Amino acid sequence: MPQIFPGEVFANTTDFDTGIRQILPRYDEMLEVIIRCLPKKTHRILELGCGTGELSLKILNRYPNAEIIALDYSPRMIQFSQAKITTAGYEKRWTGIEADFGEWANYPEKLGIGTDFDACVSSLAIHHLTDEMKLKLYQQIAANLNPDGCFWNADPTLPESPILKEIDEIAREEWRNKQGINITETRAKVGQSETQGYSNQDQLATLNIQLEMLTTAGFSTVAVPWKYYGLAVFGGWLR
Ligand SMILES: C[S@@+](CC[C@H](N)C(=O)[O-])C[C@H]1O[C@@H](n2cnc3c(N)ncnc32)[C@H](O)[C@@H]1O
Repeated sequence: MPQIFPGEVFANTTDFDTGIRQILPRYDEMLEVIIRCLPKKTHRILELGCGTGELSLKILNRYPNAEIIALDYSPRMIQFSQAKITTAGYEKRWTGIEADFGEWANYPEKLGIGTDFDACVSSLAIHHLTDEMKLKLYQQIAANLNPDGCFWNADPTLPESPILKEIDEIAREEWRNKQGINITETRAKVGQSETQGYSNQDQLATLNIQLEMLTTAGFSTVAVPWKYYGLAVFGGWLR
């Protein structure tokens, strides 16, 4: 299997947009929830782990005043998303930076991306950090948001029991079966990843633990606007 960074999922970046929709239930619906949770006047947004730029593109389409600084540690993901954003004509409102968000959590000043973000968003990326780093990241996000700022994360969470794990797996399998794809072919496109920077293969934490982390980090309102078995969109507002 070709070696990839944790979170890249597919050996070829070009397979990501189709493949992720085939193997993960309700991908577009999940991202749509993040978009709906953003304040209408959102201007400065930080995106963590932008991948192929799907969430960025949806936000830029919906919010004409939005400007995004998007981090991803994978050079090929940054190149891919840059090309997609440029093709859509949004290059003046999007800055892609090749960087590890764990590094940013520990040394924010090094990256020089400033503070005062109206919102921070992420999808399918933060679950690659250890729990210790997840908390640090949530704290850093809180420290870099405006007082009215919000944070929304769409991510798989750790099932609270073996039964719930099994139920989650069945729901995913049913989704894949409905796609009418040859799952063996799709699975063959998935790459093999090892530790890269602060990320490793899935390091899931339960939803409750992450909501507690957000409270500890300083979010006064924490919420779960969407959940589908083990997948959740969660986050909140500083005040
Ligand atoms: C599964 S993809 C999701 C991409 C996109 N957010 C989406 O929902 O389609 C996860 C992305 O997070 C990036 N990633 C994982 N760990 C990271 C880290 N520590 N720093 C920066 N990017 C990271 C990977 O390179 C990958 O592009």
